[in-house]
Amino acid sequence: MVKITVIGSSSMDLVVSASKRPNKGETILGESFKTVPGGKGANQAVAAARLGAEVYMVGCVGGDGFGEEIVNNFQKNRVVTTYVEPVTHSETGTAHITLADGDNSIIVVKGANNFVTPDFVQKALDVIGESDIVLIQHEIPEETVDYVADICFQKAVPLLLNPAPARPISQKVIERAAYITPNELEASVLFQNKDIHEALKEYPNKLLVTEGKNGVRYHNGEKEVLVPAYPVEAVDTTGAGDTFNAAFAVAVAEGKSIEDSIRFANRAASLSVTKFGAQGGMPTRAEVEGSL
Ligand code: RIB
Repeated sequence: MVKITVIGSSSMDLVVSASKRPNKGETILGESFKTVPGGKGANQAVAAARLGAEVYMVGCVGGDGFGEEIVNNFQKNRVVTTYVEPVTHSETGTAHITLADGDNSIIVVKGANNFVTPDFVQKALDVIGESDIVLIQHEIPEETVDYVADICFQKAVPLLLNPAPARPISQKVIERAAYITPNELEASVLFQNKDIHEALKEYPNKLLVTEGKNGVRYHNGEKEVLVPAYPVEAVDTTGAGDTFNAAFAVAVAEGKSIEDSIRFANRAASLSVTKFGAQGGMPTRAEVEGSL
């Protein structure tokens, strides 16, 4: 069983489904409202645990009802919560999601996720050092991403950076990460002066650009490869990227090749969009293998 540490956000997703998005100044009637656990870090931790990894989450929730629900959800999914702390001086992070026209738009209020600082992460140094791979995203402070990149580099633990939401990162972090997994928009923010094909060639077997329904593009050192996505009828695409990242991390940590790991992760991501909620459709190991 591979050991994975996820350092990242844990939020409550407040999801409104509507037939369309309101225009500026417009009020419309929605169809439903639900609250479900989310946050890119938490989603990746739950997805990896469902795929059979031993997962440690490093994160913060607020000392409120949402925080309690998130911790219970981790435990239900066998994610170890030793390094998940309730902070009493901040509310749990929330993601305000509108589902309309077959896709989502999201506003994240980071709340307690702002307290996932380098000092906080220090408490988990031992477990980080023993991990087969570490996952991190951009819903926690920027200095924490820099710090974790240094720690993983010193400890020779591969780091997967999912640079979402989009923000520029330093060259040092790019060099220190083992894998970087932007979508097309995030890639254009990371590599502003470069064509994406040039960037892929410059970072072979490291930069994986997710292109939604199209699949995932990377450079294998000889040529650019597009590993196609599996076509499915999508109910809710929220969390598909998180499922991809977690499944790729599990597969690559188990020793699969990059291309096979992407194929496995594409399959997991395609299953995840067939149910409502970021974590609702995240598959088990048996479900992915049974469908490959
Ligand atoms: O990646 C999907 C996640 O992004 C949602 O669960 C939401 O919390 C936002 O952070």
